[in-house]
Amino acid sequence: MSFKIEKISYQYSAEAPLILKNINMEIRPAEVTAIVGPSGSGKSTLVSILSGVIPELMNKGLLTGTFHHKDDVMISVVSQTPENQLFGYGVEDALAFGVENLGLSSEKISERVESVLNLLHIQHLRKRAVSTLSGGQRQAVCIASVLAMKPDLVIMDEPVSSLDPKGKHLIQSVVNQLRAAGQTTVIVDNNLDWFSDIVDHVVGIDHGEVVFDGTRDEFFADAPLAQRLGVIVPQTVDIYHELAKKADDLKPFTTVDEAYAALKDRFVSATSQQAADTQSPSEHVLEVNDLSKSFADGFQALKKINAGFEKGKIISILGQNGSGKTTLVKHLNGLHRPTAGSVTYLGKETTTKSVAEISRDVILVFQHPEHMLLKRMSTVN
Ligand SMILES: Nc1ncnc2c1ncn2[C@@H]1O[C@H](COP(=O)(O)OP(=O)(O)O)[C@@H](O)[C@H]1O
Ligand SMILES: [Mg+2]
Repeated sequence: MSFKIEKISYQYSAEAPLILKNINMEIRPAEVTAIVGPSGSGKSTLVSILSGVIPELMNKGLLTGTFHHKDDVMISVVSQTPENQLFGYGVEDALAFGVENLGLSSEKISERVESVLNLLHIQHLRKRAVSTLSGGQRQAVCIASVLAMKPDLVIMDEPVSSLDPKGKHLIQSVVNQLRAAGQTTVIVDNNLDWFSDIVDHVVGIDHGEVVFDGTRDEFFADAPLAQRLGVIVPQTVDIYHELAKKADDLKPFTTVDEAYAALKDRFVSATSQQAADTQSPSEHVLEVNDLSKSFADGFQALKKINAGFEKGKIISILGQNGSGKTTLVKHLNGLHRPTAGSVTYLGKETTTKSVAEISRDVILVFQHPEHMLLKRMSTVN
């Protein structure tokens, strides 16, 4: 069964501004629909309207438009803060709570509780008190308690916003199970990153109006729109847009696997290009040849280092603490003298020159600038 709303407009009171303006949208069965939009754009208001909280519980506002679904449809909402609903219960009781209100036999109730414990893989939590669960586990129990009622449509309004990464991960796998089981689900969240793998349909809302209605991939293709709505998209999608500016005909990707498929042929050509670049003759301003350094205590800090520093390039020297980075660069301006090997500047050995002479060509900026100033002062002195 699909849920269709047509020309829904709403204001919280006659004097208040119009919050939703002529909203048309369809929620199709067994799909995951994402509703995205900046905060204050009207997403939660729309959720209240879809779930019947408006106008049943909040009836001061003005609601116009048409709903196309059967009257006895069951729509349940999972909120951002589940603990309010379930506090003071054991997990089994919390799961039975909503079902009991449906007037089912106790046999049917246990059946429903069993089935959601299995569906969401939370059998291990059944004897726990809700108050002792982690945020993610609590949210999973809340989702399970809603599912036990077998709603036609589950709406989650920012279900992971108060959860840590582990909790987010748990809810992500819960939503995965739901989709596999054919549950029709709406997720309201401007962070599309955590559930991007399972979204079928995206509706974008801005200032109470629908500004986008399409598939996930169509939404990800429109980078400026995602930015305008403040939607967080997966990093892979951001990377795609940056690369697409530079590479023609790049096939869009969302997942790492798709990215690999789209890029693997290009990697080959990029690597051979790189190899070609390396082969082209380069001008080394500075060269280090078979440079070794042993200190007075016998410690060998550098072992036969060979390196060339090209004109106009920024070269980074990487290594763990104590690996010899500073010892190496101190050889470049003559602060250290090689035990063996040489340093050349424009082809001339610098080993015999003084630091002052070398420093006309090679300047060393110290890790601790105060050392540099002291050195300069002592030179002046
Ligand atoms: N109970 C309320 N009474 C009056 N105005 C409200 C109420 N709830 C929300 N609003 C207003 O409706 C607009 C949309 O809010 P909301 O639906 O919560 O947006 P979102 O969920 O996209 O952040 C905001 O301007 C907000 O101030
Ligand atoms: Mg909201």
